[in-house]
Amino acid sequence: MAKKTIEQVEVASKRVLMRVDFNVPLDDAGYITDDRRIRMALPSITSVIERGGRLVLVSHLGRPKGEEYEPAFSLKPAADRLAELLPGVKVSFVGEDCVGQAASEAVSALGDGEVVVLENLRFHKAEKKGEAEFAARLAAFGDIYCNNAFGTAHRNDASMLAVPQAMAGKPRVAGHLLETELKYLFEAIEQARKPFMAVLGGAKVSDKLGAIRNLTGKVDAILVGGAMAYTFLKAKGVEVGSSLVQEDMLQEAEAMARDAEGGPTQLLLPVDHACGREVSSTTPFAEYVGAIADGWMGLDIGTRTAAAYANLIATAQTIVWNGPMGVFETPPFDVGTRVVAEAIVEATGHGAVSIIGGGDSAAAIEAFGLNERVSHVSTGGGASLEMLEGGHFDSVAVLDER
Ligand code: 3PG
Repeated sequence: MAKKTIEQVEVASKRVLMRVDFNVPLDDAGYITDDRRIRMALPSITSVIERGGRLVLVSHLGRPKGEEYEPAFSLKPAADRLAELLPGVKVSFVGEDCVGQAASEAVSALGDGEVVVLENLRFHKAEKKGEAEFAARLAAFGDIYCNNAFGTAHRNDASMLAVPQAMAGKPRVAGHLLETELKYLFEAIEQARKPFMAVLGGAKVSDKLGAIRNLTGKVDAILVGGAMAYTFLKAKGVEVGSSLVQEDMLQEAEAMARDAEGGPTQLLLPVDHACGREVSSTTPFAEYVGAIADGWMGLDIGTRTAAAYANLIATAQTIVWNGPMGVFETPPFDVGTRVVAEAIVEATGHGAVSIIGGGDSAAAIEAFGLNERVSHVSTGGGASLEMLEGGHFDSVAVLDER
């Protein structure tokens, strides 16, 4: 996976077509609620600007229909935020059409050290379909292609694959963000120091099956939390009250738990549960050890489980975490996720490598203010999960080797 990086190519007066993932969350008023993906892309952006390159940034945002311009999915808020983060740099934004006349003119007019952000690629259906003609129009905007969009690396959208394919013969390199993510999510996992613990949570077992399969045999233990635990527990015959269960996954979960027995990787399930009658901060609260009574739902791992998981995490040299232990947005069901996050921070302080998957676990560690105290917080939700599944990305394979 040693890909050539943007630092290793001469960019002065060259047009660098950089695919970023500025798919950031927006509130109803159109304000960005989390700009991490933009901030994490900055090292490669500033590297190009400072060396006199001419930067063309392309991204998607959300899932528009792909038939026309839709204001709610405009990249303008992301372009404005980028301009704020780059004081003194000329950052322009071309609205409406990423491959239209105005986009072509703006790209041609770019000066050294300047940036243009083009409009949402997904306003064209051709982006999702990976169409060659659309890709050729984008490819014409760059002398160099740079993939700095780890969050989208698992997609074969035109800008991720057909564009670099159309730019064969020109440099096609990895940005710093992509390189860092691959370093942690591939190298750190494949060459992990042991003990190696995986903490997996979230609502659905089905979302984590691939990761469990790939990590089995590699990690010493998988610590299971979140609602997915109740599918495993029910499959083992434990009463789970009205907890969320994926009925169609019971057989699979049972087989997985059985296969793990006596194997090199322990699959650990919660032994106690913080429960409510509904998902709400004001719901009646009870902790159950073992079986959960009718009418109660498990909404977080219980005190004993949290302590046991924290003790195991304390022994680890490598930790990967994907998925919260409970409904951490709704106190008091944030406790298990918080205890696990704090244990990971503590282990990191003692020299462990800690890798936090994107999506909900990244949101949790940010909400607890602990994101600076772990080794790596991924910007990829789906992409980081696919890395845990041992995924191979065409969008990375197409880039030049070092
Ligand atoms: C993400 O947020 O996971 C990426 O930006 C990819 O978006 P997508 O799932 O809509 O392809």
